[in-house]
Amino acid sequence: MKKLFLSTILLLISALTMAATWEREQLISTRNSSLMLTAGENEPLKIAYYGDRIGEEERNNIHEAWVGLNRDAYPVFGTTCIFTNAMQVTHTDGNMTLDLIVKDVVRSNTNRGEKVAITMTDRVYPFAVTLNYETHYEEDIIETWVEVQHNEKGIVTLNRFDSSYMPIRKGNVWLSHLHGAWAAESWLTAEPLNHGILEIRNTDGSRNGHYNRPEVMFSLDGEPSENQGRVIGAVLCWSGNYSLRIDTDKSHMHHFFAGICNEASQYKLAKGETFVTPRMAYTYSQRGIGGASRNFHKWARNGMVHGCNTQRDILLNSWEGVYLDINEKDMEQMISDFAAMGGELFVMDDGWFGDKYPRTKDNSSLGDWVVDNNKLPKGLQHLINTAHGKGIKFGIWIEPEATNSISELIEKHPDWVLQVKGREPHYGRGGTQLLLDLTNPAVQDFIFGIVDNLLTQHPDIAYIKWDANVELFNYGSTYLPQDRQSHIYIDYHRGLVNVLQRIRNKYPQVVIQACGGGGGRISYGVMPYFDEFWVSDNTDALQRIYMQWATSYFYPAIAMAQHVSASPNHQTGRSVPLKFRFDVAMTGRLGMELQPKDMNDSERDFATRAIAQYKTIRPIIQMGNLYRLVSPFDKQGIASLMYVNDDASQAVFFAYKMEHFNNMNVQRVRMDGLDALKKYKITELNVPADKQPCHLDGKIFTGRLLMNTGIELNLDSEYASRVLMLVEQ
Ligand code: GLA
Repeated sequence: MKKLFLSTILLLISALTMAATWEREQLISTRNSSLMLTAGENEPLKIAYYGDRIGEEERNNIHEAWVGLNRDAYPVFGTTCIFTNAMQVTHTDGNMTLDLIVKDVVRSNTNRGEKVAITMTDRVYPFAVTLNYETHYEEDIIETWVEVQHNEKGIVTLNRFDSSYMPIRKGNVWLSHLHGAWAAESWLTAEPLNHGILEIRNTDGSRNGHYNRPEVMFSLDGEPSENQGRVIGAVLCWSGNYSLRIDTDKSHMHHFFAGICNEASQYKLAKGETFVTPRMAYTYSQRGIGGASRNFHKWARNGMVHGCNTQRDILLNSWEGVYLDINEKDMEQMISDFAAMGGELFVMDDGWFGDKYPRTKDNSSLGDWVVDNNKLPKGLQHLINTAHGKGIKFGIWIEPEATNSISELIEKHPDWVLQVKGREPHYGRGGTQLLLDLTNPAVQDFIFGIVDNLLTQHPDIAYIKWDANVELFNYGSTYLPQDRQSHIYIDYHRGLVNVLQRIRNKYPQVVIQACGGGGGRISYGVMPYFDEFWVSDNTDALQRIYMQWATSYFYPAIAMAQHVSASPNHQTGRSVPLKFRFDVAMTGRLGMELQPKDMNDSERDFATRAIAQYKTIRPIIQMGNLYRLVSPFDKQGIASLMYVNDDASQAVFFAYKMEHFNNMNVQRVRMDGLDALKKYKITELNVPADKQPCHLDGKIFTGRLLMNTGIELNLDSEYASRVLMLVEQ
């Protein structure tokens, strides 16, 4: 009797502790992937597994099959300081170590999946780190980020504060990542991971998309394949400096760390304040790089890119047509010519503003956002009305984060630019450009006001191109106190996001493009507020095939602004047929960027038909699923890709001849993403008036044949290209 009583008490006690504590293992799953964490009491959080979805019953199997994946989920510098780590701090008393153990796990449902927040605290110091995991169930995405807090007496300095750590089991693991420069963005490199530390890093300060991207794919089963093998994709959602590090040591793992770059960025965290790192989004796919890309695209269209529930207009941008030589007559003529070709939106680029200092060269006027009355005597509203009169919308260019040393703004507010006391400023574009100090709330208000004034005075402006053409030079803020100067890189982007949030709260409908001197602002750090980005200032169709291909690893077609420009191309000097230029631009958000009055009749006729045809395939491209078929980087002489709608009843196929030789063998191209059992009728689009449609036009094929055997392209000349529409019969 006494024994029974005792064991009941013991049972009760253990039941109570169970309720007060947490399950040792946290299995976090999406439709096709799982992440397993081990949250043992008084132990650091461990990561046990990330990969193919596992069920409850497989949890134990994972432990039985462990080969050293039992890693700290967030390695910190301290007692085991020999390893690369995700966090390093200096406590108020000068101590530089951390030793974190799990204290608390909170699971909750969200409208996309669930959120798991696991808090670890230091064994000795009142210092807490919460690792958050949020699933996007349908898209197979797990976002993770870290929140840091302390209760120490005074300031704790965060010296390193990554968003995430992920151990990747060694094998034949390959890394794919993007890199480039202005007008040469988005080159793709795939390389096997070898010993040593590989760092992908950005220190531009204001934009982070030109030189490298904080986005990688790990192909776990050898050389990357579009449609086979296991892939982990990772994207850091931050618009500022970053550091992605892969440390391959003697262990079984490649150690992947990602977060804000800590260069000159020690963060002083006050008692009770919370430091939140940017989110890191992971996806896992069994269907190669293509599968991982499609997951990111869905996630993007479901909220990470603003406004993806509406299709995007076909626009004409004035930049390569007239550059800074904006004037009323040309604007009216461009609007009218573009409307006649079936265009939907006209965007007036740089050069429309400046009163005391008119913007005639790129060395003045940024910040003075008033119409130049000499160039546009009838004002903005006249152009908006002209566009409406022709049945199209109107958009405008601004560069709100910058100013020039020749501007009224700097005369009024010399303290609003980033600057180093006692030093001559280093200028950017035009030899005069400077960056505004977005850490300063007054500057944030000013920037919000630029957009707010434009949209209040002209509520029917439908589109804004938000440019950013200068790096963060002159590391100094007159706003931040002396002991917070190391916050500039971080607080600049927090200020930017704050402004963007305010704009979006008030103006959710206006379409806004992120431009950063070309592709500098291709960044998931800002895309929740922007509808699209400018892929590059390089509009050469041939080079764009490479850029758009690589960019599509992480970003959906609807977000990629792709313009048909003049030939010879202004950046590369290359001449390619208008059809080729359209066929390349049509794989994303189609636009034009040239002076239409320079086009001859047959070119206008072709453009008019191409624009009309794009309207018919637009939903498939902008909302459909991308299948990349032949990579330009594989140098097979062609490149090819296609989009398929959700129920695989419609598709659009693109192919390009990348080089041309006599008697050159060109492979058959096997399609992907179709329904093998369906039959599809092929119609060739964008056929020039003097050419016959190709041999496939009007024919009906089974999905099986198109995918297993493929099609002959018959691309018989340099810069030949094909666009084929497939419709289920
Ligand atoms: C940047 C943009 C271009 C154009 C110019 C205008 O370079 O990337 O598209 O808007 O600025 O100055």
